Amino acid sequence: MMMMMMHTPLPVQHLSSSSSSLNISTKRTAGSGGEAKSIFTGSPKLVLTTFSNNRTRRRRKEGGGRARALAADRNNSVDKAVLQIERKQQQPRSIDTLRNEALGQLSSTTISTKGTELTGKKFAGFIAVPSQAQANSRSFIAEYCRNINHGSQAAFSFGGILLAASLVKIKNVLDTPSRTYVQGENTVGNEYDAWTKEEILEYYWGEHIHLGYYNDDDLAKGAGTLLGHKVKDFIEAKEDFVDEMFKFSKAEKSKVTSVLDVGCGIGGASRRLASVCVGSGAQVTGITLSQEQAKRANDLAKSQNIPNAKFEVMDALNMSFADNSFDLVWACESGEHMPDKKKYVEEMMRVLKPGGSLVLATWCQRETPPELTKVEKSQLQFLYDEWAHPYFISIQEYGRLVEACNPGAAVTLDDWTKQTIVSWRHSIWAGVYDPLPVFTRPKIWYKTLRDIICLERMQRAFKRKLMVYGMMRVVKK
Ligand SMILES: C[S@@+](CC[C@H](N)C(=O)[O-])C[C@H]1O[C@@H](n2cnc3c(N)ncnc32)[C@H](O)[C@@H]1O
Repeated sequence: MMMMMMHTPLPVQHLSSSSSSLNISTKRTAGSGGEAKSIFTGSPKLVLTTFSNNRTRRRRKEGGGRARALAADRNNSVDKAVLQIERKQQQPRSIDTLRNEALGQLSSTTISTKGTELTGKKFAGFIAVPSQAQANSRSFIAEYCRNINHGSQAAFSFGGILLAASLVKIKNVLDTPSRTYVQGENTVGNEYDAWTKEEILEYYWGEHIHLGYYNDDDLAKGAGTLLGHKVKDFIEAKEDFVDEMFKFSKAEKSKVTSVLDVGCGIGGASRRLASVCVGSGAQVTGITLSQEQAKRANDLAKSQNIPNAKFEVMDALNMSFADNSFDLVWACESGEHMPDKKKYVEEMMRVLKPGGSLVLATWCQRETPPELTKVEKSQLQFLYDEWAHPYFISIQEYGRLVEACNPGAAVTLDDWTKQTIVSWRHSIWAGVYDPLPVFTRPKIWYKTLRDIICLERMQRAFKRKLMVYGMMRVVKK
């Protein structure tokens, strides 16, 4: 934060390169990577440092530059935090020129003590060591800062503290998950009700609340990246996902007459199954915890003239369907929300006909061992809590749950992280290229910001293999 500072005349003694007491030496200062020249003028000493980090090098090329004067104590140990001079220049300068300019006419000067920072513009003179050089460097600088501008110092300190506190607060707010799963409170249903009413999710994600599918060819062409975001349409990638998931299920179209979509969202997959994958020969039933989703799903089935798809509100952990009712049980990205994964698997296997297929796609955490580290646990906790997930399990664990409730079932597991991972960022780019629906609705800015952060964190967790996109196909015994 740069603040204009009123300039108060100072009890300053000007240094000059011709000063008889001037002594220049060169040393490296830790951290800056730069070269420092000490200007010994008795005690305390000043050290003028040039910076050679990348940013400064870049700035130098552009004609900018930075110099820092450091007060040193009698023993020549540099107190780096004491005094800093910032300068803006048009041409690269040598250390001597730097020093002379610093002594003469700085366009901008920053003075720092530990915890205090002041910025002045257009100093006519340059801070120098006072004749009463007995003062140690730090107290001298502190005194100097007080002299410069009492009011500005207070204002600047206050402003700095306020800014730092605000940044910490913002970070804390963004790091604290906002849509935590609460057992017994229909958190999931309420969150999906809100998402459905806002219409933003449907605008960007279409009728599908799941990731898209990107084959090797799509990925080679850069699909889903910032520049390649048009290589494959974001919503088309989701339709492809449904088609690929149906292929993965190995269900035979001609033998499927009844399909259950467990956790159906607004029914995009159910309607595609009912109209394309399985077709009108099958009745597709979708269940969700969200009233709004069930309503929207039924409305869309009606407007799209797909009478063999219907939707209702029902808890997947306590379904009212009779045992052995469905040829195909479809579960796409609903397992993440289930507070009891064992019951979830048992219920789906219960309503599946013997010889029928269960196909599941779900976000998983990696298999253990090796045990999750502390960092991994905290990363997962954010991912659980931000979008109302009680917890995740590994895809291997889903397999074990199936085997426990239906020994002898044929279970096939797969990992589709590679085919789906670009979806996370593709989702962000979809908003970047078409931001108007968000911008015109300030009330959802904050929520959208949070969603972007969560999308990015998801992407990273999958990339680091902490998360896995799990696929499972089961033929019931
Ligand atoms: C990420 S969405 C997936 C929607 C849909 N499968 C799709 O592919 O578009 C999760 C869905 O699971 C549903 N869900 C979560 N827990 C559920 C439960 N216990 N019973 C029924 N549905 C549930 C939510 O209501 C939501 O519709």
